[in-house]
Amino acid sequence: MKLWGGRFKKPTAPELELLGSSIDFDRRLAFEDVRINRAYSRELQAVGVLSDGELQTILSGLDRVEEKLRENPPLEDEDIHTAVERMLGEAIEDPEVAAKVPTGRSRNDLAVTEMRLYLASAIEARVGDIEKLQASLLQQARASQDAILPGYTHLRRGQPVVYAQYLLAYFWALDRDRERLKAARTRALGLALGAGALAGNPFGVNRQRLAEELGFDHVLPNSIDAISSRDYILEFLSAGAILGTNLSRMAEDLILWSGAEYGFVSIDESYATGSSLMPQKRNPDSLELIRGKSGRLVGNLMALLTTVKGIATGYQRDLQEDKEPAFDTLDTLAMVLPVMDGVIKTLVVNRENMAAALSPDLLATDLAEYLVRKGIPFRNAHGIVGQVLARAAEKGVPPAELALDELREFSPEFDEAVSEVWDYRASAARRDTEGGVSPRAIAEQIKKAEKRL
Ligand code: ARG
Repeated sequence: MKLWGGRFKKPTAPELELLGSSIDFDRRLAFEDVRINRAYSRELQAVGVLSDGELQTILSGLDRVEEKLRENPPLEDEDIHTAVERMLGEAIEDPEVAAKVPTGRSRNDLAVTEMRLYLASAIEARVGDIEKLQASLLQQARASQDAILPGYTHLRRGQPVVYAQYLLAYFWALDRDRERLKAARTRALGLALGAGALAGNPFGVNRQRLAEELGFDHVLPNSIDAISSRDYILEFLSAGAILGTNLSRMAEDLILWSGAEYGFVSIDESYATGSSLMPQKRNPDSLELIRGKSGRLVGNLMALLTTVKGIATGYQRDLQEDKEPAFDTLDTLAMVLPVMDGVIKTLVVNRENMAAALSPDLLATDLAEYLVRKGIPFRNAHGIVGQVLARAAEKGVPPAELALDELREFSPEFDEAVSEVWDYRASAARRDTEGGVSPRAIAEQIKKAEKRL
């Protein structure tokens, strides 16, 4: 069955049928299609297009269509809208009654309405997945406030930090991802139904009531905008792509840190895989796949941006390309978020290896700050400490082993108390400002994070 064709004398070329068919992917929207048909039919009855009896016939027909859709998803029709319309015609005795349902409605407003409904509820589920991952990070952070390790910039040792600070760094990045997804959800919840093909509905259906009945947050105020715009999907894809980069970065850290060279953490065997050739291997495939999948999350955004960039306002068939990237991003997120959650929940923290990686160069900043407290301007102190470190390197000793007299060659401000600088925990404890790595600041941050969840 086709929903059009009265003016055509020739059948569609089979290769165009193949290119144009969207049933393979838009049958996901089947239940939204039925739901929208119900709400729209009620409106048609309210405005007198359908009699009360006709409405009842249609509603019970739609119940049967829904059951059938559960048993066998349609495979043959051009798209899901065609399938549901065909099935409704088959489900009720009088085909004339079924034929009234699409009055004043187009697949243009129907497809957008379905997609918006589907996306909004699917996003909600992914927001829940992020919350779970955040809760696991928080749990691990609570348990590792004492684990001290080098903090890195440029992948080189920088300053001592506690491991909890890294876990909380991921927590806050994910918190923004969650906010972005929630914003994309609200954006999706604009009602397109009633826009028709492009110019609006001539039978006076009440769009506010449709919005309420279907759970939309607002009515899209312009019929042409309603059927033309896909920026709501782009916002979702963008949030998904950014989330992908955050997960990828996290995965990269953990891949490095779980290798023998760092040994800071161990990935549970249930999230690792072996090698078909090298018997000793335990590879972090879970994290590599999460990192790899971020590529397709970015790709999905690029694909739709590219599709919409050159088309005119109005419905163009190009817009059918909006669905697969969105579904793929939803499916990818549904796969990767629980795996990351599992990896984090089962991750073992190797405190001794973290401690063994600490080296005095991590305290160079602290040494400069010691001089600052004696009244030396920071830039000068930075230079003095640079010279001290160069001397220690020349002599092949750690800077803590330079005698006080030798230090005084570089600045008369060095005194006995300098020995207190060489303490990693004391260094962390000094970073006590909001957001820092002192035990107090970390505890405060954990409280903030708890409030967010
Ligand atoms: N399958 C189409 C889509 O997803 C439905 C809308 C078709 N509209 C049209 N005028 N051909 O975009």
